[in-house]
Amino acid sequence: MPILEVRDLTRRFGGLFAVSDLTFSVEEGEIRGLIGPNGAGKTTTFNVISGFYAPSEGRVLFLGDDISGMPTNAIAARGLVRTFQATTLFQELTVLENVLVGCHLTARTDPFRALLGTDRPRQEAAHARAAEILDFFGLGERRDDPGMSLPHGLQRALGMAVALAADPKLLLLDEPFTGMNPEETRRMMDIVRKVRDRGITILLVEHDMQAVMGLCDRITVLNFGRLLTEGTPEEVRRHSEVIEAYLGSAAHAA
Ligand SMILES: Nc1ncnc2c1ncn2[C@@H]1O[C@H](COP(=O)(O)OP(=O)(O)OP(=O)(O)O)[C@@H](O)[C@H]1O
Ligand SMILES: [Mg+2]
Repeated sequence: MPILEVRDLTRRFGGLFAVSDLTFSVEEGEIRGLIGPNGAGKTTTFNVISGFYAPSEGRVLFLGDDISGMPTNAIAARGLVRTFQATTLFQELTVLENVLVGCHLTARTDPFRALLGTDRPRQEAAHARAAEILDFFGLGERRDDPGMSLPHGLQRALGMAVALAADPKLLLLDEPFTGMNPEETRRMMDIVRKVRDRGITILLVEHDMQAVMGLCDRITVLNFGRLLTEGTPEEVRRHSEVIEAYLGSAAHAA
């Protein structure tokens, strides 16, 4: 059984078809790329899968269960967690506290018990988990720094640490390499591979083709909200319509 199945998915905004009749599935344990020119419908697809938008038509199945239209927290609690295209850290919180927020997304801590201090074992477990994740991301020494004081590349890594703290089975990453220099990109690629090696399936939206080609087992290509093609990085690289879609949009942007 695939971990994720998107079936005949359509999402309209007024008369605009952001996603049209899209069908694809992701196997457990893979790193899957989801690529396409600006406006192709990648983020909208993430928004529907993760419950931020209801589908106009079609269905999303996670581990065989229909999750279409469920609220985001219910979907996250099942183990499907996403990161955002823009960095979304809590400005006033430290690095560690940001990750603790991620832990509590699924820990379902009762705030009253937390206030009364009767929830200590759970709090301590969350702390231990957050510390382990920060070490995993090489952020252990920055744990007490304000999250916003980190350089851009580390803020993106922290965003992923927050998502990982929610204990996902499937992680949706929306442009994790945006704005990174080559060194930061290389480190982030290592992190993504290590996350997969923890047994977490990854669906990755990214424009950095070197990163996509280097990381992904298979790639799904969207254009104008529709499935253009799907295959291994080699197959996709050779696909003439993919090249055209990218060159077309690049020429358009110029
Ligand atoms: N909330 C919304 N309301 C109206 N239109 C929207 C909304 N969200 C997305 N769209 C439109 O849907 C289309 C697909 O947008 P989407 O953000 O999914 O593209 P994308 O593939 O993620 O692009 P990019 O690579 O630039 O991030 C675009 O035409 C966009 O303007
Ligand atoms: Mg997008």
